[in-house]
Amino acid sequence: MLSLKDLDFKGKRVFLRVDFNVPLDEEGNIRDDTRIKAALPTLNYLLEQNSKIIIASHLGRPKGKYNPKLSLKPVAKRLSELISKEVILAPNVFGDEVDRLKKELKKNQVLLLENLRFHAEETDNDPDFARKLAYEIDYYVNDAFGACHRSHASVVAITQYVKISAAGFLVKKEVDYLSKAIHSPQKPYIAILGGAKVSDKIPVIENLLNKADDILIGGAMAYTFFRAQGYDVGHSLVEEDKKDLALKVFETAKEKQINFHLPSDYIVAPEAAPDAKAQTLDSFPIPSDLMALDIGPKTVEKYTEIITKAKTIFWNGPMGVFEIEKFSQGTKKIAIAIANTEALSIIGGGDSVAAVYKAGISEKISFISTGGGASLEFIANETLPGIEALTEK
Ligand code: 3PG
Repeated sequence: MLSLKDLDFKGKRVFLRVDFNVPLDEEGNIRDDTRIKAALPTLNYLLEQNSKIIIASHLGRPKGKYNPKLSLKPVAKRLSELISKEVILAPNVFGDEVDRLKKELKKNQVLLLENLRFHAEETDNDPDFARKLAYEIDYYVNDAFGACHRSHASVVAITQYVKISAAGFLVKKEVDYLSKAIHSPQKPYIAILGGAKVSDKIPVIENLLNKADDILIGGAMAYTFFRAQGYDVGHSLVEEDKKDLALKVFETAKEKQINFHLPSDYIVAPEAAPDAKAQTLDSFPIPSDLMALDIGPKTVEKYTEIITKAKTIFWNGPMGVFEIEKFSQGTKKIAIAIANTEALSIIGGGDSVAAVYKAGISEKISFISTGGGASLEFIANETLPGIEALTEK
């Protein structure tokens, strides 16, 4: 995989794929610009090298149709503020006007294409669409780590239509950190997985069962594991059709002598609402009118004890309904426990990352991934389609 320093970018027209899929509020203002900032080292380097930069990103899931609410206009504005430079927003991703803008682009200028996903061909990894994106391009640079798990035209197919492809600084950094957790984790290696669905996490759990010493489970997914063992979990979220997979995980963990932990107490309430009356339970059954919405204090204590001994930590997914204050304590306390270790700590996934910022301990985390889905898939499959595409070149 080529990196930026391997190439001479002077005067070259560079297609820079980034992940500017930032959260927007009702009025279309950017709520968090972390992902824009994360691409700045690469962008500034390309500017220093006097290249002509064509940036492309997706935003949201417009499903192949133009949607003004998902225009990259606010992103162009914010980016321009961050680099103190004009950012020209193209009206589309290809076509006569865009081709003209591309051709007329001068050294050190920045052109931002419109949302790639206004075209279904992007998510279809369509070769013809990729060829259009690559028109007049000298070098392709992928710095969109958060989208590298997607076999999309601007991530994968495009590499077939440009002579040279390279990884940006962010992609390189993400791959380097996550690879440490895959290939050379210092032991004890503790993986913490939360979130709603077991189905999202099965491949990653399967891989971690070969690598981690302890796997700590939180979030609603824990209740599919409990249900699979026959416990009555009230109306907690359960994926009934994943119970067999859950049982298989228990078996493998036992075979491989991995400590697979489930919560020992739970905060329950009738519903996930800010005014719901919450209580703590430490045994089953959970009454049928209640559901588990966070891990309880005993679980926090036990998990903290395990985390304290870790040398490597990978965390993805919240321990409870983090958006609601009264069900966010478990997630916050786990974030603090991780911050208090000297371990190499890697965190991915929107809510776990948000918890780290909310708890004000982001400085104490070794690496916060910009890709939730991408970091999980990287840990599960040890590579990603977008990384493979760069490697093949
Ligand atoms: C993300 O937000 O995880 C990435 O930008 C990928 O977005 P997607 O899940 O819509 O493909």
